[in-house]
Amino acid sequence: MSDNQKPILVFGATGQQGGSVAAALLKAGWPVRAFVRDPASPNSLALRDAGAELVEGRLEDAAAIRRAMEGAYGVFSVQPSSPSGTVSDAEEERFGTAIADLAVESGVRHVVYTSVIHRGDAPTGLGHFDSKIRIEAHLRALPTTFTIVRPGSFMEMLAMPGFGLDAARFDFFLRRDQSMPFVAVEDIGKFVAAVFADPARFGGETLDLFGDVLTGAELEALFTQAAGRPIAYARFTEAVLAENPFLARLTALVDNGRLSAEGDLAALRRINPELQTFRTWLAGGGRRAFEQALGTSGTWAYNQA
Ligand SMILES: NC(=O)c1ccc[n+]([C@@H]2O[C@H](COP(=O)([O-])OP(=O)(O)OC[C@H]3O[C@@H](n4cnc5c(N)ncnc54)[C@H](OP(=O)(O)O)[C@@H]3O)[C@@H](O)[C@H]2O)c1
Repeated sequence: MSDNQKPILVFGATGQQGGSVAAALLKAGWPVRAFVRDPASPNSLALRDAGAELVEGRLEDAAAIRRAMEGAYGVFSVQPSSPSGTVSDAEEERFGTAIADLAVESGVRHVVYTSVIHRGDAPTGLGHFDSKIRIEAHLRALPTTFTIVRPGSFMEMLAMPGFGLDAARFDFFLRRDQSMPFVAVEDIGKFVAAVFADPARFGGETLDLFGDVLTGAELEALFTQAAGRPIAYARFTEAVLAENPFLARLTALVDNGRLSAEGDLAALRRINPELQTFRTWLAGGGRRAFEQALGTSGTWAYNQA
């Protein structure tokens, strides 16, 4: 059987990144094996209907992961992280390193691990960044072909209720003149499909994934244009940051350059010609979420320390 007739095992396939990867791999003609907790869930059934093979298992269950890897060509590895409230940082690290070890043991040819954009390997002080830095280091030491992709903040996050859009504001980490990289979740899958298609080029590589790099002032202009009325951008106030150590640590990472992107958009667009800017995402796939956020009050779900 040639390599691209063997399946790629996709973790988190019912979630954002894994779902995007499963869709892009199926479109590219790969057999996709989706590792799911509940094969009867609506997202699992949608994957099956789209052509994926479902294998049932949990990240806690090494035997299930081993079974799922049998005969697989590749693995896409993603783990939930502590801001979701469902796992600890230590669990994220354990799950990520176990998948890498089991892939080597199972003879998987290409492991693609999704981390997060960060500069430098020194601890950041944010648990769900540092867990990823340790998983990356573990992977690099293994005798296997791997690629690390590091997505920027998801554009989807910018259209979540809780940043003030319902009150014609947008409050975020950046100062007006500071920039940060963002990516549409749909593009993560397209990049990962390109990586699996060319292991000779991407094997051993680490690639930042982003479709736009935006300042606070640019976010203000794009939101204002998309809403058709003024949306005022402001950085979180010192009082908000003093009350919330999680936001304060993220903001400090922006300030000291640890969340900046490496690489350039032209090169990324050559890998993924359909790469979306925030403007195109807001007018397309993100439009509905943005309109909902304009009309929904609430607090950001990830704002717990
Ligand atoms: N948000 C951002 O801007 C951003 C940027 C860069 C990186 N990240 C990182 O992205 C990661 C999360 O990715 P995502 O947003 O794609 O996640 P997500 O949408 O929350 O999906 C999580 C997936 O993991 C599965 N899962 C959860 N616990 C499991 C378990 N114990 N066993 C098996 N499967 C399990 C879920 O399955 P069920 O359907 O069964 O729940 C789901 O498919 C985090 O590590 C985060 O730090 C986020």
